[in-house]
Amino acid sequence: MDYSSINLRYSQLAKTECCLSCGGALNFSKVQPGEICVDLGSGRGTDVLRMAEQAGEEGFAYGIDISDGMLATARENAAKFGVGNVKFIQSELEKLELADQTADLVVSNCTINHAADKAAVWNEIFRILKKGGRFVVSDIYATSPVPEEYRNDPVAVSECWAGSVTREEYLDTLNAVGFQKITILEESKPYPKGKVEVCSFTIAGERPKGSTCGCKA
Ligand SMILES: C[S@@+](CC[C@H](N)C(=O)[O-])C[C@H]1O[C@@H](n2cnc3c(N)ncnc32)[C@H](O)[C@@H]1O
Repeated sequence: MDYSSINLRYSQLAKTECCLSCGGALNFSKVQPGEICVDLGSGRGTDVLRMAEQAGEEGFAYGIDISDGMLATARENAAKFGVGNVKFIQSELEKLELADQTADLVVSNCTINHAADKAAVWNEIFRILKKGGRFVVSDIYATSPVPEEYRNDPVAVSECWAGSVTREEYLDTLNAVGFQKITILEESKPYPKGKVEVCSFTIAGERPKGSTCGCKA
């Protein structure tokens, strides 16, 4: 997938203060001291810095993002606030440059809808989570399938709506990958976005304690 439109759009937004989130994933995450945390689509790095603070000196937080501008701003923010237990990595969500079973917690806010191959992203989340590790993700879903003419439009995908899938498709992917204890923590009413209608939700789940591979999707 060519993510240049996403890189461009978010690099332009990196120095603004506009809210890019679609839920309260981090507020539900209950980061514990010593935990290894990962934020997918970390943007300006705010949630990564908060997780690093909550995880403390024994813990660590990684931010993953595709956008040059967002990564530069996130690194500046880490330096400005003197936060050392963080690392920002440029990577597509479908191919995370983190070792198997790295993380206790994966969070993401309003990012996975951009990914072309959502099953690959969720398989990567499963792979990098430790057994028994958890995810808390805020994202959007479409109330009906996005018409094909928009689905492949990179600008519309970068605007956070054309890449959205239906709620059923979203949950089917999570189940197929092998997550358990899937719980919807908050969910909005439908609202218009771009040329479609969407809802925002925050969803949590766990990699089973005894699992070895999540490659069922
Ligand atoms: C809507 S913003 C959300 C940023 C942040 N999570 C927040 O809540 O403020 C989406 C972020 O995900 C990044 N992103 C979008 N698609 C991505 C992809 N396929 N791989 C990695 N990062 C991606 C963008 O560069 C952007 O920083």
